[in-house]
Amino acid sequence: MDTSVVSASGVTTKDHGVDVPLPGGQSSYFNFYWLRDNCPTSFDTQTRERTFDIFHLSREPQPASVRLAGEALEIIWMEDGHTSRYPLDWLSQYGEGKRRQDRADLPRRAWYADHYPDIARFPQPKLKEDRREVVKWIEALLVEGVAILTDMPDSDAALTETVRLIGHVRPTFFGEYFDVKTHINPTNLAYTAKALELHTDTPAEETAPGVQFLHCRANSVEGGMSLFLDGVAVANDFRKEHPEDFRLLSETLIPYYCEHDAYDMRSRQRVIELDEHGEVSGVTISQHMADVFDLPQTFLDLYYPAFCRFGRMLQSDKYVMRFRLNAAECIVFDNHRIVHGRSAYSATSGERHLRGCYADRGEMRSAYRALTTEGRFK
Ligand code: OGA
Ligand code: ZN
Repeated sequence: MDTSVVSASGVTTKDHGVDVPLPGGQSSYFNFYWLRDNCPTSFDTQTRERTFDIFHLSREPQPASVRLAGEALEIIWMEDGHTSRYPLDWLSQYGEGKRRQDRADLPRRAWYADHYPDIARFPQPKLKEDRREVVKWIEALLVEGVAILTDMPDSDAALTETVRLIGHVRPTFFGEYFDVKTHINPTNLAYTAKALELHTDTPAEETAPGVQFLHCRANSVEGGMSLFLDGVAVANDFRKEHPEDFRLLSETLIPYYCEHDAYDMRSRQRVIELDEHGEVSGVTISQHMADVFDLPQTFLDLYYPAFCRFGRMLQSDKYVMRFRLNAAECIVFDNHRIVHGRSAYSATSGERHLRGCYADRGEMRSAYRALTTEGRFK
């Protein structure tokens, strides 16, 4: 049985928490553990980290007294006599049990084959000078998943200093950087002059890197056109047209691999990825790195047709942008959302060199929050 005690200020004390009248007029319930854990004094002002250790409590925290004091809830705790004061405005953010607001959680905007002239473009030297340009660049990556940087200096260092504007270089098992050009002993289709079918990179990693950079240092060959499409646009249309296929592709883990003399990377991924809201966040797809599907053959009776319907849809003209990446451009994109490839080229017709690397999406969102919060920078 819950025993409720209403105080003079309208706060109702229950067995495991309190009902508190909040500034908007409504009351919200707060649990005693949560309140004790999140007393403002629990957080170190210098490091901003919680230094209170709730595991040290010998039993459920209970209040000796509860009252409203001005615009704050005041609790004196029975166990140690500690006084906690919680501004009501602060409590209001948590009363409904909703996730706290995140300025980096921007809605995605799907795009189609005609997007090339509208891709957000930023001269790299301007990004280095002006934080507001970096904010716009990250917004483009969060909302559309792709941006092109122009006027990149023709150096290895230029790529590193560009990545450092939004995070750190995130190595993969290929190392920190990769050079896409024709190699004498290629271990990878990318390092040949052959066509590279539409894919996302390194799906055999346990978690494929989030942001991909491809810095074009030279591209004077015949062929070698870039192909880019928005996996979110395709998967959203697929969801409407083939809901049952969509379910299969967003629930089933399929195997990916990357294997050669000295390595044997393997992972399992869902072709369509959903975010915490159940919205499509992206895709993981790569025929050259899809392993032999080791799933029950009767299940494959269902899975393969769905997989092929999706693959055919991906390749359709409605979605694929086709363009030439030029020297001094760097295309930056969400590697879990943007599917990319290139057409074959003639290796003897000129020079083609892209230097690539990755960064982390979580770090990019962190940079965005820090750059857009008042007062963090002088
Ligand atoms: C890659 C790749 C694109 C290109 O190396 O994974 O997608 O244009 N390269 O060569
Ligand atoms: Zn690639």
